[in-house]
Amino acid sequence: MYMKSLQVNQCKIIELCKIIDGRDGVLSVAEAQRQIPFDIKRVYYIYDLKYASALRGQHAHKQNKQVIFCINGSFTLTLDDGSHQQEIVLNQPNIGVFMDVKLWHTMKDFSEKCILLVFASELYDENDYIRDYNEFKKYINDTF
Ligand code: TYD
Repeated sequence: MYMKSLQVNQCKIIELCKIIDGRDGVLSVAEAQRQIPFDIKRVYYIYDLKYASALRGQHAHKQNKQVIFCINGSFTLTLDDGSHQQEIVLNQPNIGVFMDVKLWHTMKDFSEKCILLVFASELYDENDYIRDYNEFKKYINDTF
């Protein structure tokens, strides 16, 4: 299940097409500046999650924008723009969430064989991360 409209700023649902032709399987496409609203510089994926209780994310970015998909299984994405919070269960391979800068996000409640796929607008840079929630709140106030 997913929600079409989000109460949280700095994010939106991305729905990829599902191409189903005479052959078996479903094909979904993500292209830069089309379905993905930026030039993709980096792709990473998270897999082999052994504990449903694991917590990933728990940070925000200053420059890096991302679109996150769950291409197998399911997980819960928690979004927080500093004023509003929302949880979204991602469980369809063609439904993703665009996460703009200044958005605190956490991934949790991972199903068995869950695979997360992320497209990012920037190369990896630890200095782009805000990993402390109080620092995040200060950053969004200071850069408003
Ligand atoms: P992190 O972004 O904290 O993972 P998550 O978003 O799932 O919480 O990254 C975990 C570790 O992997 C951290 O040591 C940084 C490293 N890493 C890279 O080296 N390159 C990357 O592109 C990413 C996303 C992470």
